[in-house]
Amino acid sequence: MKTFFIVLGASIAFFLTVAMFGLTDWDRPPLAVQQSGFRGTAMAQIHTRAGAAETKAANLAPAPADPAEPGEELAGTTYENVQVLKNVSVNEFNRLMASMTEWVSPEQGCTYCHNTENMADDSLYQKKVARRMLQMTQALNTDWKDSHTGGAGVTCYTCHRGQPVPSNVWFTDPGPNRPGGFIARNNGQNLAAPSVGLASLPYDTLTEYLADKTIDNNAIRVNATTALPTTKGKPIQDAEKTYALMIHMSEGLGVNCTFCHNTRAISDWSQSTPQRVTAWHGIRMVRDINGNYLEPLLSTFPKNRLGVLGDVPKVNCTTCHNGVSKPLNGAHVIEAYPELARATDTVAANPATPMPTAPAVPPETAPAPQ
Ligand code: HEC
Ligand code: HEC
Ligand code: HEC
Ligand code: HEC
Repeated sequence: MKTFFIVLGASIAFFLTVAMFGLTDWDRPPLAVQQSGFRGTAMAQIHTRAGAAETKAANLAPAPADPAEPGEELAGTTYENVQVLKNVSVNEFNRLMASMTEWVSPEQGCTYCHNTENMADDSLYQKKVARRMLQMTQALNTDWKDSHTGGAGVTCYTCHRGQPVPSNVWFTDPGPNRPGGFIARNNGQNLAAPSVGLASLPYDTLTEYLADKTIDNNAIRVNATTALPTTKGKPIQDAEKTYALMIHMSEGLGVNCTFCHNTRAISDWSQSTPQRVTAWHGIRMVRDINGNYLEPLLSTFPKNRLGVLGDVPKVNCTTCHNGVSKPLNGAHVIEAYPELARATDTVAANPATPMPTAPAVPPETAPAPQ
């Protein structure tokens, strides 16, 4: 009998071991390892080669349209109702309309935004939203160029990828319908929300950290800066929210924490990578997009585009990054569309445009890894 149980136990152990290798979470070789920080600090990004090739293939930039013929005529004087692209030449303007159609509504065509009986008509909400999107894209490529979007820049395709509604938009999460009374509040936890990588972390962190433009600049910082507490400090719930945001950022960029942090001193900027500084500005940039461009469109969007709480669709890191640290694999998409990289409404400014405020520079900037 004893031998029987030994043999049975051994075979179960054997089969469990074999089954374990078949599970999905193994990174099978060959692996692609990329150093992302200081030598000897284990700051590296590890992907399988197959996985890296797959994310690369999912983030290809489309070829730009052929350059427009030069021309003197301006869209603002030729057409009836051009408010943003006023000082763009007519040829350049038409080339951009064709590209916008390819980027945003390739299946629907010009009619997605236009009443084709009268192109100047603004009756479709899509056209009004698109006009604001033009201003937003220009701001992303000017106000946020030095601190985030760089030479690569952003076009409509960076977010839209050939669809009217980008795949990665989010809404404020109302949470489960829970009865009130004496039931303890769960601080938004223990619910598998995709926005925080299905972790048991506060599921509605993004509303606070990526949509509230009035938030305190140091809200995300939770590490103590002195060995012993000097003030009451922050509650543990704030650390959970910070962690939830960090999980979102890591997932959105397809990287781990060491892409930005040296994990022995998470908060220390001098030991962090330069990418952390870019990310710091990215957080402020996303607040600018959501707070100054999308939220004011609340009354323009039809009801079926709004979230369950009646809020506008919003942008997060994944909307542009889609699992890679450089959107569209770092392609310099803006070079072929200079009209999206400058202000083009100088003939008469649109009074409805609040200027985004310039971001404050983080207190310490990081040195380059060596
Ligand atoms: C994603 C939305 C969108 C699509 C698709 C689109 N347009 Fe436009 N179009 C606009 C916006 C927004 C304006 C106004 C721009 C401004 O105010 O600066 C405009 C303005 C125009 C105007 C100027 C009309 C006037 O007299 O004021 C013309 C002409 C035009 N578009 C042609 C086209 C053509 C042709 C297509 C298809 C190849 C097209 N558009 C596709 C959004 C779009
Ligand atoms: C930073 C990301 C981002 C960029 C860049 C961007 N958009 Fe959008 N766009 C969004 C989001 C988010 C929405 C809201 C989605 C929805 O309508 O449900 C949206 C909505 C729209 C809509 C309304 C679609 C609908 O059916 O509700 C149009 C039209 C549009 N964008 C056009 C453009 C054009 C044209 C450009 C480039 C000039 C552009 N967008 C650039 C993020 C972006
Ligand atoms: C893309 C860059 C990036 C990645 C990846 C990233 N972080 Fe961060 N992290 C930041 C930035 C930027 C801040 C500062 C935010 C601010 O001050 O507004 C920060 C702040 C923090 C803080 C608060 C530090 C303090 O001063 O109190 C903690 C803790 C933290 N991150 C942990 C993590 C963990 C854990 C991961 C992996 C799950 C991670 N981070 C991944 C960029 C990143
Ligand atoms: C509007 C689109 C957009 C959004 C939204 C966005 N980014 Fe970026 N990000 C870019 C572009 C464009 C670059 C420049 C890439 C390049 O240089 O090729 C970039 C670069 C970066 C880099 C530097 C990558 C490297 O390898 O050097 C980091 C880190 C980063 N973003 C973090 C974030 C984080 C974190 C968020 C969300 C809080 C975010 N981004 C949201 C467009 C965006």
